[in-house]
Amino acid sequence: MKIVAVMSPKGGIGKTTTADSIAYILGEENEKRVLVLDGDPQGDTSKTFGCYEPEGRGMSELLERHVCVGGDHHTSELIKTTGYPHIDVIPAKGYLMKTDMELLMRQEDNQVTRLRDALTEVSEMYDYCICDCGRLFDMVVINILIASDIIIAPVKVGGYENEAIHNLEEQIEDLRSFNPKLRIKGIMTMRQKNKTSLEFEEWLRGASGSDMFITPVRRSIVVEKATIGMTVLPRFSHNGVVSQDYRSIVRELMEEMEGRACQGHIKLAGWSKSLHLTE
Ligand SMILES: Nc1ncnc2c1ncn2[C@@H]1O[C@H](COP(=O)(O)OP(=O)(O)OP(=O)(O)O)[C@@H](O)[C@H]1O
Ligand SMILES: [Mg+2]
Repeated sequence: MKIVAVMSPKGGIGKTTTADSIAYILGEENEKRVLVLDGDPQGDTSKTFGCYEPEGRGMSELLERHVCVGGDHHTSELIKTTGYPHIDVIPAKGYLMKTDMELLMRQEDNQVTRLRDALTEVSEMYDYCICDCGRLFDMVVINILIASDIIIAPVKVGGYENEAIHNLEEQIEDLRSFNPKLRIKGIMTMRQKNKTSLEFEEWLRGASGSDMFITPVRRSIVVEKATIGMTVLPRFSHNGVVSQDYRSIVRELMEEMEGRACQGHIKLAGWSKSLHLTE
């Protein structure tokens, strides 16, 4: 099972749209077996896949009460089926914010590697695990990143967006002692056909030094309509331009994950947030 996290420290940048679209295209259009993890207390991904339950079990139980940390839950018990035969979900709810605090206080246990341990139980059941992250670099997201093979980071043109991908790269440097193979790859999202957007794209691909997906994701009002309708984009708008962009991205991703060996390469700079984490 390849584990893919979609993460950015910026809010409203297309993380959930990207995670859900990739999961749908991999599962329903390419017949991959896909497990989706909702790592955001907002539960947007859980809602899109019809699995949101304010009182239901999911990511909090996986992280706090899994058998691998002496709890009473197996991963398979927390998986919900969806209306899509190839896609299952471990959902999130608002309580996931408290899970962050719980994990912060449990420095003695495998505080940041427990998700990785819990996922080994289902690693033969799925081809891909796609994780939608919240915007905070909290313990839930740290667990996801330490379990992941690759981070996809959506970036869009704007005031501080270019700094965001570098900040993320720097934060990830702190996690590399737990996950040395982790790499990050950006997606330019909400791209428009104007001079500013095209210049930014050129900078991203060149001078920024970031590893980027070749395909940019265009901006379209249809995406907002899909979000309002709580329907995964390629289902809502099969032939729309943004669905096509995500199909190209999935082709790139499958080639990267299945077509050639992982390179474990990442360009990083030295912003420093000191994290005291225990394995
Ligand atoms: N390519 C796009 N074109 C136009 N609108 C988009 C595009 N991608 C996402 N959006 C819209 O931007 C908004 C935020 O998208 P999304 O929820 O995917 O972002 P997010 O990064 O997950 O947000 P949050 O930080 O709240 O979790 C939504 O209304 C969505 O419809
Ligand atoms: Mg989101």
